[in-house]
Amino acid sequence: MSAGRLLLALPGNEEFAQRLAGEMSAAFEVVETRRFPDGESYVRLPCETAGRVVDFVCTLVNPDEGFLRLVFAADAARELGATQVNLVAPYLAYMRQDCRFRPGESISSASFARLLSSTFDRLVTVDPHLHRHHSLSDVYSIRADALQSAPLLADWIGANVQRPLVIGPDEESEQWAGAIAARINAPHVVLRKVRHGDRHVEIELPGLERWQGCQPVLVDDIASSGRTLAVAARSLAQCGYPRPVVAVVHALFAGDALDTLSPLCSRIVSTDAVPHPTNAIALAPLVAGALKEAEGR
Ligand code: R5P
Repeated sequence: MSAGRLLLALPGNEEFAQRLAGEMSAAFEVVETRRFPDGESYVRLPCETAGRVVDFVCTLVNPDEGFLRLVFAADAARELGATQVNLVAPYLAYMRQDCRFRPGESISSASFARLLSSTFDRLVTVDPHLHRHHSLSDVYSIRADALQSAPLLADWIGANVQRPLVIGPDEESEQWAGAIAARINAPHVVLRKVRHGDRHVEIELPGLERWQGCQPVLVDDIASSGRTLAVAARSLAQCGYPRPVVAVVHALFAGDALDTLSPLCSRIVSTDAVPHPTNAIALAPLVAGALKEAEGR
């Protein structure tokens, strides 16, 4: 790593930044922030940025809460002489509202991409929810690297689950389920989901008789309300399957999601893209590899 590189964590990202710094043999510092009495954000950089490549580390869970301070920090780094200002955001928010489903809706994936693209030189993220957008370059005008955690999830499943049947809960999850299953030479199936509302989904199972005797492993990119995984787990139980293992990339688990899901599953694990008690799969080596690879160019 070049002497000029600097990792700066936003509050809440210290543990990930520490692991990333360890992988890169680099130091990291934490951006100082607080709220003024009126709720506005105060931001101060903890060290010099002049002449340095600065990688801000900030996963984008709950983006509405922390987004402005991230922009203020990035702008300060640039104004104070950083030669490049990058964002490492293992979870990239606002990727699911990728079209106008009802008249008048905002396409927040495009608006959010415009805001980040005007603030940073480069984005590094992990498994962004690419569905109707086929690539980040559809909406991001900066270099945006979408790293894939499927090999890491696959290796965890291969090491921890006997006779896994990898199951994606909806058609969008084929990309993860297929890649995971192929790596560990396991069978996989994809279910059919119809979403009726934020917390109301229905799931249809194909015939699963031929996989009886396998341990179901539900894999998905995001657990938000947890309803997708909960409905899938209940459907599997109705077909006589044991409680599934769940492996997700982004453990958002909003509200009562984990309480609803836990009794239906034998184990729930996630990557550390979003800090959560279910984290079991470390992404820092993957992210460090991408940062180092770019440095060598
Ligand atoms: C959307 O299709 C994603 O891949 C996830 O399946 C979805 O975001 C999960 O949402 P929830 O946990 O609220 O059902």
